[in-house]
Amino acid sequence: MLDANYWEERYQTGQTGWDIGKASPALIAYFEKLANKDIHILIPGAGKAHDLGWLHQHGFKNSVVIDISPTALKQASDLYPDIPISHFLEGDFFSHKGSYDLIVEQTFFCALSPKLRPQYVQKMHELLKPGGRLIGLLFDFPLGADGPPFGGSATEYQDHFDQLFKIKHLERAYNSIKPRMGRELFFELIK
Ligand SMILES: C[S@@+](CC[C@H](N)C(=O)[O-])C[C@H]1O[C@@H](n2cnc3c(N)ncnc32)[C@H](O)[C@@H]1O
Repeated sequence: MLDANYWEERYQTGQTGWDIGKASPALIAYFEKLANKDIHILIPGAGKAHDLGWLHQHGFKNSVVIDISPTALKQASDLYPDIPISHFLEGDFFSHKGSYDLIVEQTFFCALSPKLRPQYVQKMHELLKPGGRLIGLLFDFPLGADGPPFGGSATEYQDHFDQLFKIKHLERAYNSIKPRMGRELFFELIK
């Protein structure tokens, strides 16, 4: 069961192999092109919140994370003490209420049971303002029974997203970190 207890135990015992220890270069490249720093940004399942750290440091003060693990959030706020604690939301993404211009995906989708993919798409759509964007990285390796991380392909992702979103980008990321090079897709969807 990939519930709060599962993730709590992973953070409490330091089994966080997914944590790259810094903001993702592919996401930074996207953030650097954003002209308006006042937009409302959500990062769900953000773990230690390195991307939030980058955003706040670069003036995107309306950025928040939500994570189901209180220990992850404690570790994140310890790492980024300048960010107000109110920007670290504890809770289940699927129950979250809000309205965002931009939502950022980074190893959250792949951490969920594949059964939840249709709900993920619906919830992202609900949380975005009209014209809002969902951007980020998705793994590009075959979906098997084992996970997390659970994989997928561009075709599978396209089938999930294209009912509710305009797909602006869904292609191999050129700026993945070394261990993930060739195994990630960068995507940008518009509501
Ligand atoms: C594989 S980790 C990735 C963390 C972070 N994105 C990173 O790249 O370091 C998945 C994260 O999603 C969180 N999570 C899992 N299910 C969640 C849910 N339903 N709502 C909010 N967060 C959730 C976990 O606590 C964990 O921090």
